[in-house]
Amino acid sequence: MKVLVVGSGGREHALCWAIQNSPLCDALYCAPGNAGIADVAQCVPIGSEDVDALVRFASDNGIDFVVVGPEGPLVLGLVDRLTAIGIKAFGPSAAAAELEGSKGFMKDILAKYKVPTAAYGRFTEPEAAKAFVRKNGAPIVVKADGLAAGKGVTVARTAEEAFAAIDEALVQGRFGAAGAEVVVEEFLDGEEVSFFALCDGETALPLVSAQDHKAVGDGDTGPNTGGMGAYSPAPVLTPDLQDRVMREIVLPTVRGMAAEGKPFKGVLFAGLMILQGPDGPVPKTLEFNVRFGDPECQTLMMRMKSDVLAALVAAADGVLDSIDLRWHDQTALCVVMAANGYPGDYVKNTEIRGFEAANAVDGVTVFHAGTKLSDDGRVLSTGGRVLGVTALAPTVAEAQARAYQAVDKLDWPNGFCRRDIGWRAVGR
Ligand code: AMP
Ligand code: GLY
Repeated sequence: MKVLVVGSGGREHALCWAIQNSPLCDALYCAPGNAGIADVAQCVPIGSEDVDALVRFASDNGIDFVVVGPEGPLVLGLVDRLTAIGIKAFGPSAAAAELEGSKGFMKDILAKYKVPTAAYGRFTEPEAAKAFVRKNGAPIVVKADGLAAGKGVTVARTAEEAFAAIDEALVQGRFGAAGAEVVVEEFLDGEEVSFFALCDGETALPLVSAQDHKAVGDGDTGPNTGGMGAYSPAPVLTPDLQDRVMREIVLPTVRGMAAEGKPFKGVLFAGLMILQGPDGPVPKTLEFNVRFGDPECQTLMMRMKSDVLAALVAAADGVLDSIDLRWHDQTALCVVMAANGYPGDYVKNTEIRGFEAANAVDGVTVFHAGTKLSDDGRVLSTGGRVLGVTALAPTVAEAQARAYQAVDKLDWPNGFCRRDIGWRAVGR
């Protein structure tokens, strides 16, 4: 197969790294890719949301299979456009991508198909939203309905904070059209975990769990980011709980989407809160994403023993029941290195060195998230999250030690990382 991966982050580097090992893969392209992806795929200078140009490239170059990394092109209908001209693709249609593209849509699907989640209301009028806050009390959570680059959610400790978030979205228009509606929902107190399942429109195949670290600072302090590190498996998601998540959350959602005429194909990424109930842990759905998590994907690809491309093609073909996935028992742990200043303003185009030494640490692969090659062949940072230093080892403590050993081999004075990725699992 000639395969095209769409995207330029650490997630796409990990996908390309895994796909190029597949016996099914004859040629691998990535649009637009980055300096690390260029080692494993041929990079094509087309932006991930330039749907017209992506479709043209795939058609002109005889691409057999397209793997879409980020949510943007999915919501814009890239998979629909490719399917219409007979090119197979991994990822949901625009209609099914609304599970991530509209939180209101997602909550209504969960309510209709009785999937456990926080109680909620949908509002376009600020006064009605505030009345809901007064009735339910704080803490309470306010979410912009649409895609807001991870900034659309406010966990309000007080009613005043919730009122301010409601006004920001509905009155001041901070998120534009994405915030013309808000979801206000019950605060859930527990431990967060990410769960992934491949879906083929009818059925779902569980992947594995992972835990992400959203806060920028050690000890989970400071503002939220896209993710400063991750590890897999997440011990909080025991095999019993995983079965329950499949039974109560993933399968009813997949069946519900099919019943709505919007069958979900691709990877369903469930953001879960595990609450401690009187009879034990209870999983509830915080959100759905319609793509792999970043940096969770880096840990999943390191642990996957089976041919990832065969599994992604089976999801697109609707024959997931023919796939039996094998995983390394070991733990994978990814430490994100970000540009100084992230998630606020940060400097770009600073040089990073030491890749060879870092990649030489036993079990370590350095995935690139925001890099480019300069004309004279140096690696420069281009984004906020820049690298994902990922290690595979028999225990989470060992994976953590190896990942930080590799971090220390990198020479990048303009970058930083958290020093405690995996702390919960190491503690357990
Ligand atoms: P979301 O984009 O919906 O996942 O929200 C971003 C983050 O806000 C989540 O990862 C949680 O940490 C937090 N969050 C979202 N919804 C809730 C909720 N109902 N209760 C507590 N925290 C939440
Ligand atoms: N790491 C969280 C996400 O990809 O949304």
